[in-house]
Amino acid sequence: MAFYPLEQLSRLHDGYQKAFSVDRLELLLVQQDGKPFILENRCPHMDVPLTHAQLLPSGKIRCRAHGIEFQLESGRAEGPLASQLDCLKKYPVIFDGAFVGVELP
Ligand code: FES
Repeated sequence: MAFYPLEQLSRLHDGYQKAFSVDRLELLLVQQDGKPFILENRCPHMDVPLTHAQLLPSGKIRCRAHGIEFQLESGRAEGPLASQLDCLKKYPVIFDGAFVGVELP
């Protein structure tokens, strides 16, 4: 496994949202309610990037393409299409010194 630092911890804040390209992966680092999440930057509905998705105060993220909301903790979709959609793909958030990042094989 290799650690890829994405951001300095001091730059994270609620509402933080930034896309990264790491080792051929497109990732999205967000923070909500004091907790960072690393997501695959792709909506499971129609593969639209979530770079400009809307973070909601209820611990969700809303894809702007068709408005589907996903829970950040579980990655599950909500609403009428939820049972037909995959969850958001998430990656473990790793803290290393002053950085937050991701570990990849
Ligand atoms: S592509 Fe995200 S809701 Fe449709």
